Amino acid sequence: MTEQIKKNTEGLDAAAVIRYITQNFGREAVFSTSFGIEDQVITHLLEEAGAEIDIFTLETGRLFPETYKVWNRTLEKYGLPIKAYYPDTGAVEKMVSEKGPSSFYNSVEDRKECCFIRKIEPLKRAIQGYKVWITGIRADQSANREDMTRVEWDEANRIVKIHPLFYWTLADVEDFLKQNHIPYNSLHDKGFPSIGCQPCTRAIQPGEDFRAGRWWWEDKSKKECGLHRTTN
Ligand code: ADX
Ligand code: SF4
Repeated sequence: MTEQIKKNTEGLDAAAVIRYITQNFGREAVFSTSFGIEDQVITHLLEEAGAEIDIFTLETGRLFPETYKVWNRTLEKYGLPIKAYYPDTGAVEKMVSEKGPSSFYNSVEDRKECCFIRKIEPLKRAIQGYKVWITGIRADQSANREDMTRVEWDEANRIVKIHPLFYWTLADVEDFLKQNHIPYNSLHDKGFPSIGCQPCTRAIQPGEDFRAGRWWWEDKSKKECGLHRTTN
């Protein structure tokens, strides 16, 4: 199926890819949003296409106040339902009781445990039963992501992943946001090109790598939370 979708979407622009998924998969497709600028473009395209595609967000419990603001503004503007997935209460209670509220700074192992509990396990529930998972990944977000493809099979999650904005540059995304008056996270204008959980994201300096502000205290090669395994 992955190869077929790849072939059928070759040469299509992002809006056409979204229309293709809508027509061919509809409710069998799901879109994950973290309310980053790329995700906001996709939400806009979904609404424009009249797509009845489920949307979810992983509410880790550690998001920025600015992220909640743009979440609200997105609901107001588009009126599309966005399902929130929370981590398992027992798992969070155990981790925080045993290791405190900031265990992610202790070691890569502890950081991965937190990402597993707050993101990976809820993700598994969120994509269960779907055939296609749409994300806002772009190739030039990191060297790892350049090795991915716009349509790919995710063996770990046994689902086809499609990244409609894969070939877009940051400037393409910013221009599209402006032209279409799309609400976006105000942190974006304060040096945060890539936004995740508050304790694990900082602003970057001019010239720094796009993802330099994510888990900045860790070795570069380990800086993925595991949502997108092919990028590990
Ligand atoms: S991450 O792996 O480093 O966290 P990144 O922030 O680059 O990912 O986002 C890439 C894509 O992963 C987003 O476009 C979105 O589809 C998905 N994603 C990331 N974080 C979340 C989240 N909290 N909830 C839902 N989807 C998310
Ligand atoms: Fe935990 Fe940080 Fe991962 Fe968020 S990004 S789930 S706070 S380790």
